[in-house]
Amino acid sequence: MRPEPAAIDRAVALLQAGELVAFPTETVYGLGADAANPAAVGRIFAAKGRPADHPLIVHLAGAGCLDRWARDIPGRAWELAEAFWPGPLTLILKRTPAVPTAVTGGQDSVGLRVPAHPLALDLLRAYAEAGGGVAGMCGVAAPSANRFGRISPTEATHVREELGDSVPLVLDGGRCPVGIESTILDLTRDAALPPRLLRPGRVTPEQIAAVIGVLPETVTRSSAEAPPRVAGSLAAHYAPSTPLRLVAPTRLGEVIDILRATARRCAVLHYGSLPASVGTPHASRRLPADPRGYARALYAALRELDQTAAELIVVEELPATPAWAAVADRLQRAAAGAGMQAAPSGFPRWAAVAATDPATTR
Ligand code: TXA
Ligand code: MG
Repeated sequence: MRPEPAAIDRAVALLQAGELVAFPTETVYGLGADAANPAAVGRIFAAKGRPADHPLIVHLAGAGCLDRWARDIPGRAWELAEAFWPGPLTLILKRTPAVPTAVTGGQDSVGLRVPAHPLALDLLRAYAEAGGGVAGMCGVAAPSANRFGRISPTEATHVREELGDSVPLVLDGGRCPVGIESTILDLTRDAALPPRLLRPGRVTPEQIAAVIGVLPETVTRSSAEAPPRVAGSLAAHYAPSTPLRLVAPTRLGEVIDILRATARRCAVLHYGSLPASVGTPHASRRLPADPRGYARALYAALRELDQTAAELIVVEELPATPAWAAVADRLQRAAAGAGMQAAPSGFPRWAAVAATDPATTR
C-alpha cells in the first residue's frame, strides 16, 4: 500500500511547519516531527504523554547526514550503518551541539537510524529535498506512535486508536513488516569496550558481531555502569490494559480449563496447537510458530485480545532460544506492565505471580 505523492507533499509541508506526522517504518509506526525544532518535538511528548526525559530516535534519509547529528563517530558505527541501513538498527552516538536537548532527554548522546520502509524513505528524502526543517538538519524525530507505555502500533488504524486527532496526518503503509521496534545499540563507550545492546530486535547480537568482530554486551540491571535512560528498557512497557501472564506450553491447557471452571473470561495467545481436550477460551489468536512471523503479528493480536472482554490474557511462553529473544523481551515487559500485578479477583493464585524481571534475565 503506497499513498499518493500528494500525501507525501502534505506530510513534508506539515513537518516543515513544525507539525506532527505519523508514518510507517518497517518496525512500527512512528510519530514524527522536525527533530531540529524544539517546539515540534514538544508536540510529540504532549501527544504521547511521554515523560520529557525519555530521548527520541532521529530518523534520517541516509548515513550521509549522520555527522550533522553525531560527533566522534567510531569506525564501528560506519560499518554497522553500511551493513544494516536502511534497516531496524538504532545507533546511540555522541551528539553534536546542534541536537536539541528536547530530543536527547538531556543526555550527551543521540539515537539515529535510517528506516527501511519505502514510504518512510520517500518521506525522509522528500523532506530533505524541501529543505529538511530547521537549519536543514534533515532529521525526523519519531518514537513509536502510541501513548506512553502502551503497545506500539503496527497498522495505521492503531495510530488513530492511540492518538486520535492529535496527529493531523497518518500516512498509511499497511502492516509493518518487522512488527517489533528496532534493535538499539549504544556505541558511546570507549572503543576498547564492547558496545551495549539496549533493546533486542530483528538485528541480532550475532549479526552485529559478524560485522564489527565483537559481541555486544547485554544491559542488565546489575551492570555496574548505569545504562542510559531507555523508555523501552523499563521493566513494564509495551503493555495492553488487560492483565497478561506468560504460561509454559505444557501448562497452557490446564490453565485454560481452570479459568473456564471458575467462569473467568480468558483470552489466549498461542503458537502451538491447544490440546484437543481443552474447552474453548473466551477469545484466542494463534500466531505463526517462527520468530519473524510471530513478531509481525504480535502487537495487532495483543491489541485485538485487549479489546475483547477478557479479564486475563494468557500467553504461551516462547522457546528460550536466541532467535526468540526479541519477542520474548517484549512479552516479558508486557506482562510486567499490563493491568494489575496481583491476581484479578476470583482468579487462581498463579495469576498473581509477578512476571520475571526481564532486566535481570536477558
Ligand atoms: O523501531 C523503532 O525504533 C521505532 C520506529 C518508529 O523507528 N521507534 C521507537 O521509538 O521505538 P521509541 O521512542 O518508542 O523507542 C526508542 C527508544 C526509547 O526507549 C528511547 O529511550 C531510546 O530509544 N533512546 C533514544 N535515544 C536514546 C539515547 N540517546 N540514549 C539511550 N536511549 C535512547
Ligand atoms: Mg515506544
